[in-house]
Amino acid sequence: MKNIFDALKESHEKQRLLLDSLVETSGDSPIRREFYDNLKQELEQHSAAEERYFYAPLIESDQTIELSRHGIAEHHTIDKLLAQLDETDNGSPAWLAKMKTLRHKVLHHLEEEEQRFFPMAGKVMSDQQKQQLANDYLKEMTR
Ligand SMILES: [Fe+2]
Ligand SMILES: [Fe+2]
Repeated sequence: MKNIFDALKESHEKQRLLLDSLVETSGDSPIRREFYDNLKQELEQHSAAEERYFYAPLIESDQTIELSRHGIAEHHTIDKLLAQLDETDNGSPAWLAKMKTLRHKVLHHLEEEEQRFFPMAGKVMSDQQKQQLANDYLKEMTR
């Protein structure tokens, strides 16, 4: 039985792989477009489901309200970077520079969630809640 942390990490791994692949692409190419579309969809779907089934329950507890606010604020920053990328010419050096900024930001965010937030959340959630949230999260991710 998966818990919420295992479930969230599956998407994190996918994001890391796509980000690493994207900074290796050059110019406007079908593969760059494909990786980017996949990354964008993964980030948007993951952030929405993570806010609902990870951060929202943590807002309820005094020990985790701050981390919850912080994580959600970072999702907004990531959204803005994606919007900037959408507006930039796909084959330009500016696009690659922005992609590197996005990669840096997302990698930092994933690291903070896994190293800092998951252990803190682990202390305020029951085992049953961790499994229930994983089920709900995964159901939304496969829609
Ligand atoms: Fe997140
Ligand atoms: Fe996450």
